[in-house]
Parts: sequence; structure tokens; C-alpha cells
Amino acid sequence: MSSSAVKYARENHARFLDELKDLLRIPSISTLPEHAGDCRKIAEKLAAELKRIGMENVRLIETTGHPLVYADWLHAAGKPTMLAYGHYDVQPADPLDEWHTPPFEPTERNGNLYARGAVDDKGQMFMHVKSLESLLKTGGALPLNVRVLLEGEEEVGGEGIAAYVASKPADLKADFALVSDTELFAPGLPTLCVGLRGMIYTELEVRGAKTDLHSGMYGGAAPNPFVAIAQIIAKLKDENGHILIPGFYDDIIPPSAEELAAWESLPFDEEHYRETEVGSRVLVGESGYGVLERTWARPTLDVHGIPGGFTGAGAKTVIPAKALAKVSMRLVPGMTPAKAFEQYKSYVTAIAPAGVDVQARMIHSGDPCLIPVDNPYIRAATRALHEVWGKDTVFIRSGGSIPIVGDFAKHLKLPSVMMGFGLPDDNLHAPNEKFNLKNFELGIESIIRFMEEAGR
Ligand code: BES
Ligand code: MN
Ligand code: MN
Repeated sequence: MSSSAVKYARENHARFLDELKDLLRIPSISTLPEHAGDCRKIAEKLAAELKRIGMENVRLIETTGHPLVYADWLHAAGKPTMLAYGHYDVQPADPLDEWHTPPFEPTERNGNLYARGAVDDKGQMFMHVKSLESLLKTGGALPLNVRVLLEGEEEVGGEGIAAYVASKPADLKADFALVSDTELFAPGLPTLCVGLRGMIYTELEVRGAKTDLHSGMYGGAAPNPFVAIAQIIAKLKDENGHILIPGFYDDIIPPSAEELAAWESLPFDEEHYRETEVGSRVLVGESGYGVLERTWARPTLDVHGIPGGFTGAGAKTVIPAKALAKVSMRLVPGMTPAKAFEQYKSYVTAIAPAGVDVQARMIHSGDPCLIPVDNPYIRAATRALHEVWGKDTVFIRSGGSIPIVGDFAKHLKLPSVMMGFGLPDDNLHAPNEKFNLKNFELGIESIIRFMEEAGR
């Protein structure tokens, strides 16, 4: 079946790419206060673009943080309504010296577009916009009703959008959500993601003496909060990757035998994954579970950094008064952020060595989610993907988190279709993030076909 919208997308590919590059030049790093202006600037630019392509009721919605962008087109009487979600914010780009070309100067190389946000999520979010443009500019109408909702705080927990979705469900009335913020399981293999891990991101603060002290004068008498924090961290997990927080695993809903069997038949080469994606000598983690189950369906705990004390060049003999650690846990279906945090907090308090005070703070959190696949939107997606990629879709989960997907289910009762076109080696959150140009192109075609199928 030919689609004039697909033809339009092909003919305008070069311009679409130039427009994406303009978005990638704006360093909309949500976590850094000095980039708040860039977040607003890109939000305004996206709003203007949505207006230009013919979307209606376009507006910025203010939050406690960076603004949301909203637009709709609701003239397909009797057809379902799709809520198209994406995020315009990105992670910080450091370490800068490991980028082959600067993170905010998008560069084409070997069939890829390199830039921070190329795939996560500006390039993918923009596929939605360009699919809508292709349909509106060719038929003057969309095959179904569409609301677009873009956020600028996904990478920092998505507090603003969560509050909006919880408080204004009537303004977002829809039948399903389309989220393109995930990846293909392998190049050329159409993939729908049907489960995400949730998370709690915490900060641990350990205090010892009332002030920094000379380590010669007081070493041997004063508590050292860095040693204490290391001792606490060492007790969070055992050498088999098992998390030692009491009750942590109690509520987990394990994947079904059927789902596990489907994962077994995915084209996954553990050795290749170890060598090319991870690049470590061995893989670690909970014994008794395969890599896919460990990263998709088991909770994990990681330490991201231990700031504070003396970290300059040379030496300083000091016993710092306080130490910090950034610690996060990924949660799986059955677990809730509130309960996991309580269990963690009581445990770290209980195991704190003598002489130090421990405080655990939650920075942000998100629910895990599991999408029911038995619905017409998932079926429409697999038909659309088959048309474009010529293959049956595989269903996977992902170990990452997209907090709003759980909120869409909870507050709006929407199933999400997580149709993403990243690749496992796209370097999300890392130096040299990229988006495969063919995937950008076929992603747009897939989304056009999907809207056509879902509106049929
Ligand atoms: N797009 C990612 C999540 C993702 C990555 C899903 C790969 C599937 C495959 C998202 O932007 C992300 O990075 N989320 C954060 C959320 C957190 C900061 C609340 C994450 O997972 O760390
Ligand atoms: Mn993302
Ligand atoms: Mn991300």
C-alpha cells in the first residue's frame, strides 16, 4: 500500500534532518540550572513548529520546572485519540573530551547523526512531529485524533508532567499513548517495548565530626564519614549481586514462563554484548538469572558517585566532616518506590557504623510498568512495523525508566505503545550519542503507517 504521507516524508528527508540538527544545537540539559533558558527556548521552538505544521491549541504549560508543550488535532470523528509523548531535555554531555565531535554540534558520520539528544529523545520525539507534518501536509487531515505532550524534565524524574497528568486527566483524554524513547532489540528488527523498570534515585549523607579535622591530630579518635559510607555501601549488595535490604524482593512479580521463553528466542549473543556494549572482562549480577532477565526484570542497585572530601590534585590530610553518595535502585513490577525507599532508609540507618549519622533522601522516583499487549493499538503497531521493516515484531522489556508511562496507565488508564528506533550501541547518556539516520527515516515511516493503521 502506498501512502502519500510516506512519499512526502521521503522527499523532505533532508529538510527534516536539518531541522533536527537545529534542535540538537540547543543544549537543553534539564538538570543544570544554567540551561533553564535553553529548555524554554527549545520548548518555544517546538511549539512554533507544531503550529506551523497545522496542529491546534498549541501552548506551553508551565510547571514547577521546565515547561510542557501541548498541541492537539481532534477532528477525526469516531476515530481513536492518540497521546504522542516525547521529551526535549537531555542529559549533561560530560566527559567532553571523549566526544569525537562536540555534543551540541550535530555531525553526520558513517550513516549516523552524532549529538547529545540525537536518539534520547530529540530525534525520536521529532519523528512524531515530522510524521504529523507528513500526514497534515498531504491529506490536510490526520487518520485519527492526536494530542501531543512534550516534557523537559524526563531526565530528572519528570515531576512537572507527573503533577499535570495527575491533576488534569480530562485535558488529556485519549485511547492510547505513543512513546518513542526506546530501542530496537537489534538493527533492522522491529521492536515494541512492553515493560520498563521503575527507580528510586537517592542521596546518602553521612556526618561524623562537627567540622573537618586534621587527620594526624584526630585520626584514631574521630569518625571518618567516607570510611563509614564505604562500609554502608559494601553492605547494600553481596558478592553475588544480591541486594541485602530486608524485604526488598518480597513483592516482585516475576515474568511469566511464556515471556521468559520468548526472551530465550531473541537473537542475543552474551559474549558479543559483553565485549562490544559493556566492554568489561566479565559480566556481573545476580547469579541464577540470564542477562536479559537481570537487566529487564530484576531490581538492581548502583552507586553513581561519592562527592565531597578532598579530591584535588596532590594530598590534603583531612578527616572530612561529611560524605555523600548518589545511590539508585531500579525497581520491577510489583515493587513501589515508596516501599523500596522506606526499606532502604531503615536498613542504612540500622547498619550505620558508630559515630556517624546517616540521612537518606529521595531525589526522584518512578513506577515500574508492564504494558498489556492484547489491545488493538499494539496490533496496529505490529502491522505498521511489518509493512515498513518486512518482519514480525519482537516484544521486549527495557531496564531503563520512563516515569510518565506508569502515570499514563495510573491516571489516564492508557496503554502505551512504546515504539522506539534507537539501537543498543547508541551511547545514550554517554559520549558520542548517535541516532542511525536510516532508523530516523524508517521510524518516521513506521509512525505514519502506525497512525494510519490505528485510525483504520
Ligand atoms: N529513554 C530513556 C529510557 C530508556 C533507555 C528506555 C533505553 C529504553 C531503553 C530515558 O530518557 C531515561 O534515560 N530515563 C532515565 C529516567 C530517570 C532519570 C528517572 C533512566 O532510565 O535513567
Ligand atoms: Mn529518553
Ligand atoms: Mn535518557
